[in-house]
Amino acid sequence: MIKPVTNSRTPLIAGNWKLHKTAVEANQLVSEMLPGLQAVTGVEKLLCPPFTALQAVSESLKGTEIALGAQNLHWETSGALTGEISAAMLAEFCQYVIIGHSERRAYFGETDETVNHKVRAALSHNLRAVMCVGETLKENEDGQAAEVISRQVRDGLTEINLAGSTDLVVAYEPVWAIGTGRAATAEGANLLIRNVIRPTLAGLFGEEIAQGIRVLYGGSVKPGNAAEYFQQSEIDGALVGGASLKADDFVGITQAAA
Ligand code: PGA
Repeated sequence: MIKPVTNSRTPLIAGNWKLHKTAVEANQLVSEMLPGLQAVTGVEKLLCPPFTALQAVSESLKGTEIALGAQNLHWETSGALTGEISAAMLAEFCQYVIIGHSERRAYFGETDETVNHKVRAALSHNLRAVMCVGETLKENEDGQAAEVISRQVRDGLTEINLAGSTDLVVAYEPVWAIGTGRAATAEGANLLIRNVIRPTLAGLFGEEIAQGIRVLYGGSVKPGNAAEYFQQSEIDGALVGGASLKADDFVGITQAAA
C-alpha cells in the first residue's frame, strides 16, 4: 500500500475512535466527515477505527489522501496467540498503527518493553508507528513527568533503526488530560516536548532525524482549544479521542491545523 506523501513535520491530525463504531456506523461517520476533511489542505489526516471496521473504512477512503490506522497490534508475525492481530494483517489496510496508548498500558498490561516490540514490528512491515507517552496525575504531581516520559521514549524506541523521520510519530498524552476535559496548557505541552521528548529522540536517532519526527499532543483536544496547540513550535498535530467521533468537531480541529 502506498503511504501518503508527507514532508517532514507536515501537521498530522489523528482520530482514535477507541471502542466505538461498528463497520456500518464507521462508514456513516466517514461519509459525514469526508467532504470537510478533503477540503483542508496541507494537513495529513488519519482515522483509527476498531479492527473490525478497517476493511470497510479502507474501501471508503480509496482515492482520498486520508490515511487509515489501527489502534494496536501484536509483534509476532503468526502463532498460537488467540485474539491477536499482526503487523502484516494490518498492512493490508493501514498505513499507521497507534502503539502504547495509556489505556493499553493501564488496562492491558502494556509496558515499555512490549511497546518496543510493537514499534519494531510495525516499522518492519512498512507501517508508521504512533507511539504514545505521557505521565499519570500522580507522576505529574510528584514532579516526575520529565523522568517518566524520557524513559517511555527511550525504552519504547530502544534499538530501533529509523529509516526516515516520517515513519515514527510520538504522541504526548498526559494521562490526566485524556477524556477528562482537563487539557494540558499548550505552553506546558510545548515545553515538555522541547525539553524532554525531542532531546531524548535526538539522543536515540541524532539531531537531524529528531527534528523531523512529528510530535502530537493528545488529551481533551476540541475545536475550541486546538489552535492554541498548533501555534506551538514543537506540536505537530493532535491525537484526538472523543472529538474525533463527531464529524464537525474533527473537521474543525483539522481546519485549525491548516
Ligand atoms: P480525548 O482522548 O481526546 O478524548 O481526551 C485522546 C486519546 O485518548 O488519544
